[in-house]
Amino acid sequence: LDIFLRHTGGIGFIGAGTDVSELESHLQKATTLLNSTSLPTSSTLPIGIGFINWGASLGATDPLIQQYRPSAVWFFAPRSLAALQTWTTETRNASPGTKIWVQIGSVEEAINTLTIGPDVLVVQGTDAGGHGRTRGAGIVPLFPEVHDAVHTRGSEHGGKVPILLAAGGIVESRTAASALVLGASGVVLGTRLLASHEANISAGYQNTILNTFDGGQTTVRTKVYDELRGTTGWAETHNARGVINKSYTDWEQGMELEENKALYEKEMKKGDEGWGVGARMTTYAGSGVGLIKTVMPAGEIVKSVREGVGKVLSRFNL
Ligand SMILES: Cc1cc2nc3c(=O)[nH]c(=O)nc-3n(C[C@H](O)[C@H](O)[C@H](O)COP(=O)(O)O)c2cc1C
Repeated sequence: LDIFLRHTGGIGFIGAGTDVSELESHLQKATTLLNSTSLPTSSTLPIGIGFINWGASLGATDPLIQQYRPSAVWFFAPRSLAALQTWTTETRNASPGTKIWVQIGSVEEAINTLTIGPDVLVVQGTDAGGHGRTRGAGIVPLFPEVHDAVHTRGSEHGGKVPILLAAGGIVESRTAASALVLGASGVVLGTRLLASHEANISAGYQNTILNTFDGGQTTVRTKVYDELRGTTGWAETHNARGVINKSYTDWEQGMELEENKALYEKEMKKGDEGWGVGARMTTYAGSGVGLIKTVMPAGEIVKSVREGVGKVLSRFNL
């Protein structure tokens, strides 16, 4: 993925999440692919790795960071600021050239995170697909408030102000342009890239992304999907946005979790038929999902968003 993104002005992340058991094989594959391109070699591997800190093992991760030296690591949902500090210190010791990105979802979290000296803060609004803050704001009010707070407080932390990126609901050029107008230095695409050729998801998942419209009504933030999948280590502060399907509506109507879980497990065996509004497989997606109409190569998606942003902003002489 990164190869395509780098050619078009973006950086891709391997999503290790809470489970780093397959990270080494992904890194080996990425290294092989990158060696077969004309991308310039540098002191770091031109790809990032994303960790969900509360569940990932730092002990298992550290030697891989040291060996592969990714350009960036992406941290999210640590159990505490102290834990985030430890991850940051260990990563910088293992690979000094690796940039520390931290995804935050509130002004308070942004301010607290400054103490660990991040290189990049990803400001995640409540429209984001997948996990994020249970209580949240969209990036329209959230981003400028974080921006101002970080610039004011930055001077208290040695004057270091991290680069700010916007995430949540950005799937095409108008939404990306609006994030830049809010003051973002760049944007994050999550849900949009689910409809890319490179996305490592089933056809059932991808078709649901294409067939879902009106995301404010057809997706929901909930903990139910985590409960069904057994990914229950998340703090109360976090839940996840996914497409409303049968698992959710049954839960809403009072079905016992055990029964719902049993049905979920049966559904897992159905392959692509297990996905969709009338089915049960968890389909994490953001509320911008209705703007996604086609599956494209990841690089083309990034390129079209970037080019479109220029066109949108030129209308305003920006
Ligand atoms: C399928 C899916 C999986 C995700 N997994 C992670 C993850 O492992 N770690 C993380 O920090 N964020 C994760 N996110 C959230 C993204 O980092 C990002 O905030 C979000 O995708 C941005 O909003 P958008 O989906 O509207 O583009 C995930 C999002 C989706 C849609």
